[in-house]
Amino acid sequence: MKWAARAPANIALVKYMGKCDARLNLPANASLSMTLDSLCTVVELREAAATRWVAAAPSASVSGRELRVPALDAAGAAKFEKHLARVISEAPGILSQFGLRMRAVGEVEIRSANTFPAASGIASSASAFAALTLAGAQACAADLDAFAAAWEGRPEFRRAWARVARQGSGSACRSLEGPWVRWVDTDAAAVSSRLPAYVDLVLLVASGKKAVSSTDAHAAVVASPLWAGRVERANARVAELSAALAAGDASVVAQVAWTELWEMHSLFHTSPQPFTYWLPLSLEILQWLKPLVEGPGAPVVTMDAGPNVHLLVPATDAAQWRARVAERFPGLLVLEDRAGGGAATAVS
Ligand code: PMV
Repeated sequence: MKWAARAPANIALVKYMGKCDARLNLPANASLSMTLDSLCTVVELREAAATRWVAAAPSASVSGRELRVPALDAAGAAKFEKHLARVISEAPGILSQFGLRMRAVGEVEIRSANTFPAASGIASSASAFAALTLAGAQACAADLDAFAAAWEGRPEFRRAWARVARQGSGSACRSLEGPWVRWVDTDAAAVSSRLPAYVDLVLLVASGKKAVSSTDAHAAVVASPLWAGRVERANARVAELSAALAAGDASVVAQVAWTELWEMHSLFHTSPQPFTYWLPLSLEILQWLKPLVEGPGAPVVTMDAGPNVHLLVPATDAAQWRARVAERFPGLLVLEDRAGGGAATAVS
């Protein structure tokens, strides 16, 4: 038997950076992100002789995107296998709470693949752990139709699994729903928005493995002198952003994201052993965007723990923004994805 799921990446406008419990991936502050759609990870579980991640393509596909099997090292594969064990051990409690029957899960082979172009600089841990959580959860369910009905129809069921996904990789808990998701303490849930449909244009400054992992960044920032007041500021931004989304106030969304971008990276720049993810081109792009963010029709600009710059703009303006970027930075690669609804059991 086989079970498959897909889950998209998400891009935070107020960041999860700094943990109050590293073992459980409990965040120091609330965060809020936009869930993407087809920039995603597909995970497939197949009954096999032993439970292990294998470097082989899942049979499932994602229309319009090429699937690439990641090159996981032994530690990465072990983390994935450990997370599947966590999903299976949490399943009886969650399934019974929602009236679903459990089946015994035997040994399974884990296959995974990303739609991100190779070394695109897009972090895959959120999408990977979200997809693995959903694939594993399905494998534990005796009745897949009943499981799918609960997944589609009961947000609190998805939220229960988001708590499990979070323990694999914190930001994974925001990839189970969409398009806008707020994560506070143990809970990640969709929030309402009156903004039109947005897309994320990822300006690919550089790709490849980052010098400082996000795990190390989470540990480093709490020792920055700028950490004082960070939790309160980030939580206040989440409140302001939630209100702006609900009101459809795009210019406040843009202002909050812009301030937050600079603050998170300032924490990196002021940790006891300062480090940066920025490259000269990252800064050049930010300088080009500065007057645009302050003007009317401002794009939402953010950066993760990496050198790439994300421009979130209404889908109807995407072509125009792509043209502006191409004119100012000829040859710069741009990835595009729209906002989506989160992890799904159906793989097309
Ligand atoms: O989920 P992690 O531990 O890889 O942390 C992700 C941290 C950021 O991407 C930098 C911010 C965020 O909220 O997604």
